Amino acid sequence: MNNTHQDLAGKVALVTGGSRGIGAAIAGRLAAAGATVALTYVRAREQADAVARRIEVDGGRAMVLRADLSEPDAAASAVEETVRSLGRLDILVNNAGELAYGCIEEVSQPELDRVIAIDIRSVFLAAQAAARHLGDGGRIISIGSCFNGRVPGANFVLQAMAKSALVGLTKSLARELGPRGITVTTVDPGPIDTDMNPADGETAEFQRSLTALGRYGEVEDIAEAVAFLAGPGGRYLTGTGIAVDGGYTI
Ligand SMILES: NC(=O)c1ccc[n+]([C@@H]2O[C@H](COP(=O)([O-])OP(=O)(O)OC[C@H]3O[C@@H](n4cnc5c(N)ncnc54)[C@H](OP(=O)(O)O)[C@@H]3O)[C@@H](O)[C@H]2O)c1
Repeated sequence: MNNTHQDLAGKVALVTGGSRGIGAAIAGRLAAAGATVALTYVRAREQADAVARRIEVDGGRAMVLRADLSEPDAAASAVEETVRSLGRLDILVNNAGELAYGCIEEVSQPELDRVIAIDIRSVFLAAQAAARHLGDGGRIISIGSCFNGRVPGANFVLQAMAKSALVGLTKSLARELGPRGITVTTVDPGPIDTDMNPADGETAEFQRSLTALGRYGEVEDIAEAVAFLAGPGGRYLTGTGIAVDGGYTI
């Protein structure tokens, strides 16, 4: 398979939001490293199937699950279904998310509740369910954001609030699960060219100008960091995050 080391052979990974963008790249990268991958979608069934097919064509193993993470039971169900179908769980990647943008006067309560449900509650509930199954060497990796510590412009209140919550969750769980040999980390992207944040979008030029490298990153940049954290190289990294942001936060 490709020429990637099979560091994750025998491992099972669950990637939420694996149908498109960053999640699809993570699913492909973990599979290329030898993991069997369960990936979730909520609307894009065909794209999720295409990601799984590509993995299988490349000699890997993948399964597709529907999980609407705005629903309270969906995260734990995805974890349980993965374990039921694939026999174990070694790596949980909390990636799914929706665009959250707007000034505080305009954010409605349903919008607020939705962001909290998808970006915070589902991550907590997936981690809670995963913690019952992960063994020594297990990994919980959440896709945070470069907005988790600094906010360089207005109208990011929902995104910044939600992704900052992952910092507390990650540090607390690292303490709780460390004695079992499980690491808990985040990968914190800067502007990455996806449907959520296209490199030719309205605010793209502004975002580009905030990076040291002067450009957007690609989904593979995030997938590479996740693969590193998931593999043997990540074994002594816990309770912290890797900023993959082209220098956005320096
Ligand atoms: N792109 C960036 O610049 C950037 C920067 C910082 C952080 N991030 C974070 O990176 C993660 C991935 O973002 P992306 O840019 O790859 O976004 P994307 O291209 O819009 O993909 C989003 C993924 O999440 C899934 N999803 C959306 N709503 C969901 C829900 N209610 N329940 C379950 N799954 C849901 C989507 O499923 P369907 O395909 O079925 O709709 C899709 O697989 C997010 O957590 C985002 O906040 C992205």
